[in-house]
Amino acid sequence: MSVDALTPVAAEGAALTPARSGWIPGTSAIRFGGDYNPEQWPREIWLEDVALMKEAGINLVSVGIFSWALLEPREGEYDFAFLDDLLGLLHENGIDVDLGTPTAAPPAWFYRTYPDARPVTRDGLPLGFGSRGIMSPSSSDYRRAATAIADRLARRYADHPAVVLWHVHNEYGAPVTESYDDASVANFRRWLQTRYGSIAALNAAWGTTFWGQIYAGFDEIDAPRQSASVTNPAHRLDFARFSSDALLECFRLERDAIRAHATQPITTNFMASTCPSVDLWRWADEVDIVSNDHYLTAARLDAHVMLAMDADLTRSLAGGKPWILMEHSTSAVNWQPRNIAKKPGELARNTVAHLARGADAVLFFQFRASRFGAEKFHSAMLPHAGRDSRTWREITALGGLLGAAEELRDSRVRAEVAIVWSWESFWAQDLEWRPSVDLSHRERIEETYRTLWESGVTVDFVHPAADLRGYRAVFAPALYLIDEEGADNLRAFVENGGTLAVGSFSGIVDENDAVPAGPHPGRLRDTLGLVIEEFLPLREGHSAEVRWTASDAAAPVTEAPRRAAHEDSAPLSATVWADDIVLQGAHAEAIFTTGPASGGPAITRNALGAGSAWYISAAFDGADQSAIVDRVLADAGVTVTTPAEGLECVERIGDDGARWLIVLNHAEEPRELAAAGVDLATGERVTGSAVVPAGGVRILRVS
Ligand code: GAL
Repeated sequence: MSVDALTPVAAEGAALTPARSGWIPGTSAIRFGGDYNPEQWPREIWLEDVALMKEAGINLVSVGIFSWALLEPREGEYDFAFLDDLLGLLHENGIDVDLGTPTAAPPAWFYRTYPDARPVTRDGLPLGFGSRGIMSPSSSDYRRAATAIADRLARRYADHPAVVLWHVHNEYGAPVTESYDDASVANFRRWLQTRYGSIAALNAAWGTTFWGQIYAGFDEIDAPRQSASVTNPAHRLDFARFSSDALLECFRLERDAIRAHATQPITTNFMASTCPSVDLWRWADEVDIVSNDHYLTAARLDAHVMLAMDADLTRSLAGGKPWILMEHSTSAVNWQPRNIAKKPGELARNTVAHLARGADAVLFFQFRASRFGAEKFHSAMLPHAGRDSRTWREITALGGLLGAAEELRDSRVRAEVAIVWSWESFWAQDLEWRPSVDLSHRERIEETYRTLWESGVTVDFVHPAADLRGYRAVFAPALYLIDEEGADNLRAFVENGGTLAVGSFSGIVDENDAVPAGPHPGRLRDTLGLVIEEFLPLREGHSAEVRWTASDAAAPVTEAPRRAAHEDSAPLSATVWADDIVLQGAHAEAIFTTGPASGGPAITRNALGAGSAWYISAAFDGADQSAIVDRVLADAGVTVTTPAEGLECVERIGDDGARWLIVLNHAEEPRELAAAGVDLATGERVTGSAVVPAGGVRILRVS
């Protein structure tokens, strides 16, 4: 189904050529800056701010994101004096502007006039004014008001020399994606009509003969509200799809309103791996440049690995093209249970990690710390402590480093390994009444990613139906739902010589959350060369022992260079899951020796066409997971060069073959690695080996 079918109104005159393939116009520098909210400050502070921005090398700020109440103090009455003044000042000082539409935070008058535009929760509570992101995406009043202010801004500032980029809304989907208000129900019915065409087709897709839920017409369908117990999962899944699409309709309306007047690129800030409710594969082509917000989860000691995962996912959404890190923090945020400050050097390490993984613009939330409001304890580029602070010194040093790294611009990151990422599958798997509460798609993907990160393997993320040519190995650690197109695509990848590694509880349902006829794993049966007779989930805290089979030594798998020390004879510890597997062509690489599937296959490999498909029927962690991943990589012919512990190395490659090695040292001691080239920050020529200071970064032009 095409999203096009859903957009009810195209803005009048959306005729200007979009800057689709373009990058932010203007300087060839790496873009550096942050959200700037000067509405919170008197004008004399603005003057200080621009001087400080220049001191730090800031060349781009995002403004206007929360300015609706100032720009339209009463409905239809506009006052652009503040923005005129601000854009003028920034431009005079050589600072470019990413101009936001303020539609994530409608003014108080809007809610007084249109109380029905508020979102309603699944259990029927309309949300109140006072936060942001509080609107029903289907409200025609909201859509009209948002499109009108976007249109006004575009008419006024399309030709303003400061404006180099448009920033629509803020973080669609956060904090609310699904709304159960009347407008959403009406819009959902339309969406279903477009998707299914007839009520009979919907009844068939949703399996409404179960529990006697047959609908006579679309007007009988409600949003899947809180009910006595579990409700129809296909209904829930379609409402999740619809809700993501309803937000996308909002984006498109604003984007088209801007495009009718302006030629600068238009973006909206994604939350790639951290907003689970928006299917960004459907959004990625709708923006001119992909941009992303990322905040560390401070409680996690591997937060830097999750940062890398988020950046790799963002680059993948951008189709490998340069992208913008629209927001990250200089130090602690204010919304986690314990807001841990970044250590000295961590700020630069985080920023450079995004740069390493393809960002050509790195911005923070926010330039100057707010004195009041909900975010006064959030870090900023200029903290409450002011200019004489570690944060400011690190910011100015970072500005210098990014200035020296300008030549990285427009170079690309290449990966020969990919991980399948499917929001649809995640939504479906997360519904109630699954065989085990311990199944977690997120946890499986993170564990697989972490293993690859530790091995120094750069990873792309792919949609199940993406073009997989060019990858040697594709991991699908959690792919509960797969449609025919995706399943055929994975099979073709294997037949054409690829190595696929599928995790447990994958291929279980089709796009309607229905089990395909026959045994599990449905559409992946032939590819994996096996069937599953029964799921055998483990009890909480239990594990089962798994051993590589003796014949494995003769299998066409060579030991990966890394972790050669892992003994084939050492048992692996499987948790969460096991299956009763019947092999139908696949070879058991490892078997369960204890637990409910004892004696049966645990890890299998199916030779198919020119490639192979592995199945991993349980959760494995740490060294065990690494041992499995290493075998898959070796089978795929992926060369692994494992960096020293704590080192993160990523390569960016230019069109002309120029290469840069970006190295981050997350360890508390200096680390050394083999390298030859020129350090962009110091100009030092490195021959043979480079030392990276504890917690430091180095960017080398490889010779
Ligand atoms: C982001 C949001 C910003 C700011 C930031 C604080 O999600 O876009 O406006 O609130 O969080 O971490």
